[in-house]
Amino acid sequence: MNRTRRLRRNPFIRDMVRETKLSLDDFIYPLFIVEGEDIKREISSMRGVYHFSIDKVLDEIKEIMDLGIKSIILFGIPNDKDSIGSEAYSSQGIIQRAIGEIKKKFPEIYIVTDVCMCEYTSHGHCGIVLDNGDVDNDKTLPYLGKIALSHAEAGADMVAPSDMMDGRVGYIRKILDENGFEMIPIMAYSAKYASAFYGPFREAAASAPQWGDRRSYQMDPANSNEAIREVMYDIEEGADIVMVKPALSYLDIIRRVKDNFRMPIAAYNVSGEYSMIKNAIENGIVGEEIIMEVLTSIKRAGADIIISYFAKDVAKSFK
Ligand code: PBG
Ligand code: ZN
Repeated sequence: MNRTRRLRRNPFIRDMVRETKLSLDDFIYPLFIVEGEDIKREISSMRGVYHFSIDKVLDEIKEIMDLGIKSIILFGIPNDKDSIGSEAYSSQGIIQRAIGEIKKKFPEIYIVTDVCMCEYTSHGHCGIVLDNGDVDNDKTLPYLGKIALSHAEAGADMVAPSDMMDGRVGYIRKILDENGFEMIPIMAYSAKYASAFYGPFREAAASAPQWGDRRSYQMDPANSNEAIREVMYDIEEGADIVMVKPALSYLDIIRRVKDNFRMPIAAYNVSGEYSMIKNAIENGIVGEEIIMEVLTSIKRAGADIIISYFAKDVAKSFK
């Protein structure tokens, strides 16, 4: 008989033969930054996740660094929005100021920034909108270039464009290179699906589109070959890391991308995935072990990097 149970008999042997192990090195922790002072306000759609003013986010970063987390991704929520998202690339914008303050106090923390327009535009779309309502690809590119450059100038370690315009990785690479930032990597949200799993984030970032949806730029959840093409184009344009987003309904995509390209792959365990699980735990429907199970499945599928609101829970489970 093949006795597969021999290697499951006790924790020692199970630990020894475990194929996938999470490490804090894998994680990037998202943070939401708002204008104002002395603000730490729980986001109603995301229990355990907060809006922080810049002064308060410094305390949070101290805490996560003490827990062993080494990297964060920043999202800014400005007070003022307009049709071209000008706060997104202002040197005095919320993110640019936050990066400066964070780096001054914690030079070692690795700062990734989300490069997009939807949190900054009055219409909530990820690009420049024409009179007929279309989101114009090529008119958007210069704005994305300006946003990425302003983040690099403020001191970001890596930029992560999430807008899903065509050609943006190449465009941003060129702008960064021309300005002396050839060593700043680009983590491209390459296979980013038009997903209902972003619901809680859009409440958190006040970034829901004022009309229509994002299906003319984000991917159709039914498509897998198209994800391979998206990733291929981004690699050709100079992406250093490619991302699949969301993670859990797209584990097959993570695996396909890994097998096809052998590039560093990030997976974004998004807000809806977080809140569904968090609520189920808080209501006693499932046990807390589900967090490690789910995150391990993302790594097992092929992700090297996991962006997750659960990063602090993982860190605490290691203590
Ligand atoms: C901005 C952006 C979004 C997310 C990351 N960057 C929202 C969207 O595309 O609507 C989603 C993150 C999450 O749901 O946790 N484009
Ligand atoms: Zn966007």
